[in-house]
Amino acid sequence: TPVLVLNGPNLGRLGRRQPEIYGTTTHAELAELCVEWGNALGLDVEVRQTNHEGELLDWLNTAADDATPVVLNAGAWTHYSLALYDACAQLTAPLVEVHLSDPKQRPEQFRHTSHVEPHAALTVAGRGTDGYRLALEHLADALGV
Ligand code: DQA
Repeated sequence: TPVLVLNGPNLGRLGRRQPEIYGTTTHAELAELCVEWGNALGLDVEVRQTNHEGELLDWLNTAADDATPVVLNAGAWTHYSLALYDACAQLTAPLVEVHLSDPKQRPEQFRHTSHVEPHAALTVAGRGTDGYRLALEHLADALGV
C-alpha cells in the first residue's frame, strides 16, 4: 500500500535547525526511518520535502487523484495557508497531521491554528520523529493493512 510522507518548509534542515526544539535527527535519517517503519507495517512509504508551497499543493492534488494516504508535516504553512486547507479538504484517503514539536504548547499565538487539522483523521504533535511512526501505525490500522 503506497503512502506519502510530505514535509514542508525548513524541514530539510532537520538535525541542524533549532535542535533543542526539533531534535538532532536529519531529514535523510527521518526519511530512512519512515521507509523502515513502513516496511514493517506493510506500507510502501515515499518521503518528500519541499520549501515551495506550490510543489506541496501539486503533490496533494496528485494524492487526491490517486487516493493515496498522506502523512503531512506542513511546517509553518499549517498555520496560515488556505490553499493548503483546500488541498487537504479534497483528499479521500486518510490524512494524518504530524508535528515534531507541539505547536499548541508553544508561545507564538500563530502556531495555535492548524488548517490541516480539520481534515486529518489524527494529529500527532510533540512526539519528535517517533510521531511519524505513530502516524504510519494509524494509517496501517485505518487501511486494514
Ligand atoms: C512544525 C511546527 C510548526 O509550527 C513550525 O513552523 C515548523 C515545524 C513541527 O514539526 O513541530 O516548521 O511543523
